[in-house]
This record gives sequence, C-alpha cells and structure tokens, in this order.
Amino acid sequence: MNSAIRDANPALPPHRASEHTAHVELTSRPAWKALAAHQQAISDLHLRRLFADDARRSERMACEAAGVYFDYSKNRITDATLPLLLRLAGECGLDAHIAAMFRGDNINLTEHRAVLHTALRAPENTKRFVDGINVMPGIHAVLKRMADFARQIRNGAWRGFSGKRICNVVSIGIGGSDLGPSMAYEALRHYSQRDSGFGLHFRFISSVDSNDFLEATRDLDPAETLFIICSKSFTTQETLSNAHRARAWCLQGLGHDQAIGRHFVAVSSNAAGVAAFGIDVANMFSTWDWVGGRYSLCSAVGLSTMIAIGPENFRAMLGGFHAMDEHFRTAPLAQNLPVLHGLLAIWNANFLKLHSVAVLPYEHYLRRLPAYLQQLAMESNGKQVTIDGRRVVYPTSPIYWGESGINGQHSFFQLLHQGTARVACDFIGFCQSANAHAASRDLLMANMFAQAEALAFGNTATGLDPHRVVDGNHASNTLLLAALTPEALGRLIAFYEHSVFTQGVIWNINSFDQWGVELGKELTTRTMAELETAGEPQLEHDSSTNALIQRYRRLRHADDK
Ligand code: F6P
Repeated sequence: MNSAIRDANPALPPHRASEHTAHVELTSRPAWKALAAHQQAISDLHLRRLFADDARRSERMACEAAGVYFDYSKNRITDATLPLLLRLAGECGLDAHIAAMFRGDNINLTEHRAVLHTALRAPENTKRFVDGINVMPGIHAVLKRMADFARQIRNGAWRGFSGKRICNVVSIGIGGSDLGPSMAYEALRHYSQRDSGFGLHFRFISSVDSNDFLEATRDLDPAETLFIICSKSFTTQETLSNAHRARAWCLQGLGHDQAIGRHFVAVSSNAAGVAAFGIDVANMFSTWDWVGGRYSLCSAVGLSTMIAIGPENFRAMLGGFHAMDEHFRTAPLAQNLPVLHGLLAIWNANFLKLHSVAVLPYEHYLRRLPAYLQQLAMESNGKQVTIDGRRVVYPTSPIYWGESGINGQHSFFQLLHQGTARVACDFIGFCQSANAHAASRDLLMANMFAQAEALAFGNTATGLDPHRVVDGNHASNTLLLAALTPEALGRLIAFYEHSVFTQGVIWNINSFDQWGVELGKELTTRTMAELETAGEPQLEHDSSTNALIQRYRRLRHADDK
C-alpha cells in the first residue's frame, strides 16, 4: 500500500497484522529452522577467515541511509545469513507489521492502544488517524505551544513570581519521562543556551531518594527556577513525591501559593491529575496514550530539550527522527538499516546465544545513551509471552548495558576481549566533533576502530603466553555518523526504536506494554504502609523480606539501636 493511501484513509478497518495468520511457533518456521542449520554449519568460521577470503566483505556488508553509515561486516555471518534472516522477516510478516504501526492500528493489544510515536515527528500536512481522528493537528498545536513557551523562557519574557528571569529549568520525571530528556540534553548540550548573557541551567530529578532533589536544587534560587513535572500518567509515585517536594521548596522560598503558576508546568495526558496536584491545566502540555513513555522524547516530554536547544534545533531533531522513520517505512527490507540491525540482533541472541549487548558510544555527549537504550530495548522486548499470551520458547531481549566506549576500555573491555561471557557490541562514532579539536577526535576514533578490530580479529602471533592470547571472533556493529547534530541524534534514536520494533515482531511479542513492572509497585505500596505503621506491625512476607524490613525499622533512625 502506498504512503498516501496509508496516510489518508481513516475508513480503513483496524488491522492487526497477526490476525491474518494462524499461530505458528517461531521456532517451527522454515526460515528459523534453516537459520539453526546454517548456524551449525558455520559455527567454526572465524571473522579472520571471513575477511581474509573476501576483500570486499565490508563493502557488501555496509549500508547507508538517512545520514547513518551502518557497518555490520564484523558480525559472525556469511553471505547466506542475511537472506535467511530476511526470509524469516517475510514469514513473520514484518512488512505488514510496519504498515500497521504507521497506520495507527491498535498494535499494543494488551493496552488497546495505537503506537504512533512516529506521528510526533511527521510533517504538519501528513495525516495519521487514531480511531478515525486525525491526530496531526493536535500534535502540531502542542509543538507550537511548546515553542512559544520555550521562546519566552529563553528570551526572559516569562518571569518568575517575583519578577526575576527564569534561569534554572528542573525536569522531574522517571523512566521514559526522564531518560529521553536527560539523554537528549546531554547529547545536545553544545547547542544549548548557555554562553549568551542569558544562560540557562538544566537539572534532572528522577529518584525518590530526596538526596537527588537536594543535590539538584541546593544552589538554586526558587525565584529563578522553573519545574517541569513530566509524567504521562501523573500517578507515578516517584515523580509525584518529587513534585510535592518541589512545591514545598518553592512555597518556602517564595511564600505564596500563586507562585506555583509561574514556576510549575506539567507534561501529561492526565489533565485531572495535573489539576488535582495544583498546576493550572493552562500550564500543561499534552501527550497521548498512544505514545509510550520510552518513545516520548518527540512529544512534550521533550519540553526541557526544546527550551535548552531552541525550537528550531528541536524541529531539526524531529526532522532527523522523521528521515529515519521514512527510511524504515519505505526502504526494501534488504536495504533497511533498522531492519538489518534488528535481524542481526535476532541472529546474535537466538542463534549465537549472545545474551548481552554493550552499547559503546565514542562521543562524550552521548554518555547517557546506554541508559536510554536500556529502557528502550529491555522494557520493550523483555517479555516472556507472545502477543497472544503463549510462553515463548526462545530467548527474547538480551541485556543492554554500556558506557562511554573510551572509558569502558579501561574497565570492562578486558572481559569483552578475554572473558568467558560473550557480548555483542555496538560501536557508535562521529567523524566531526561539535567543538573544533580535530586531534582529540582522531585519538578517540582511532581507539574505536582499534577496539572493533581487536574484538573481531584478536591477535595472531604464534607462541604467545596464554595470558596474552586474544581470540577475537566477537560480533560487533559500527554506526558512523558525520556529527552529533540535533538531526543526527533524531536519526540515531529512531534507528534504534525501529530495530527494537523489528526484533519484537520476529519474537511475536508486544513491545509496547510493561506489565512486569506492576508487581513491584503493588508490593511497594503494601510495604510502605508497613514502614509507616507505628509499633510492631504483623509482617506476612517471606522470612527474608520480613527480616530485612524489621532490621531496617530498627536501624533507620541514626540514634536507634
Ligand atoms: O513503571 C514504568 C513506567 O511506566 C515507564 O514505562 C514509564 O516510562 C515510566 O514508568 C514513567 O511513567 P509516567 O510518565 O507515567 O510517570
């Protein structure tokens, strides 16, 4: 179906790609079986041999689109591997699933929701429908309000209660309402308004531990501080607890209830919750239930980012996301970067049994990216049942972790090179530095290229002391971009979003719910009541939990024994 029809036809019935096919166990699919046999056949091959036998391997196993160069040649694959993975994608109906997501079908079946974060960055004249209603005018109305507000903060037109300019912006949120904004702020710090006569400072508070709040605000003047309370649900305990703390801090400093209107704005889909907290809904920026928290950076959840880098740069970031969205939506699967990355992740996790992925940005500004991708991948695909509720019989999401690559080299890379646990790596680098220090960029990038090479090929000298032998044959991807601009950040994040989506489709799971986190929340409520009870409450947990609670109750006040 072409894009115009997909975009413009609200009358199309809700579509579930999976409705068209009877249940077939993933591991029974012909392509899966062929991949398993293929893996057996090539298990002894070493990357050294694969490269030695084929001088053009890196040419054929690299792809470029939307400003992202993706080299996947250092994966443990042969020319036969990708065609089989693409066959698997065909058998799993990946094309239809991609179309269903962009069309706004209720693909988040357990929450009965569409999944339309891609609409957040689509141009204004596009049409995207949820339940027959075009959501694009609403999205752009919010973007315009955000831009207007961001400009007022940036140029000082928006004043605090006492008439002072706002120069501190404190974003309070957790999970997707924190990781996106804090990662993007760090990533684009170079573009933030900080050097002019009117510099802005940004802080992010997520933990319910009051030390987070105290450290973030201890040197701030409430009269110059704006709080953005970011919570899609506006029920999240940690965020509301910090929001109350912020209000008390503000009232103590400014002495008047009316100050709240000048120092608090909210980002939420829960207007009633925002009003009940005491923030005027006129100061609320809406988000929607069809935007998952971990996919929400392009919504009003990105308000702090927009204030930091300005509406024009924020638009450029949205443009980058959209460019990768369009590539993902329209490119043939065999040349589709997120699809290739996602399929190789399936190969690594399910056939090579690599259950760990290290995200290694060689870019100081991207040091929060591993934490961001951790939520994106693990909250999306850390699932144990298929979309129709059957237990999966194959591994789903591996563990994502990581750190600035150059720092990791001097800590955990030892294990990557010589440990017994095998880890797949994503190297992410940029050819140009935001600041003009070309020599340091050369040194940084030399390290990145060297590490990927060492992981793939190891050392080959004979007669080495066994302690010095580096086997190599470790799988890695390399993503190389020109420079970390707002647009490039958008492209990179959308690349990972769609890779995660691709993996979820193959695993036949719902990548858009997160029911697993609910049990812990329920138990916290029960335990909190027990911690607040005076005397010796009757505890009915297991013996370990009972003992820990009792010990904590005994020792929580420094003077207690
Ligand atoms: O508990 C998990 C979670 O719901 C995440 O999915 C979400 O990003 C985060 O909490 C914050 O949720 P909210 O924006 O509703 O406060």
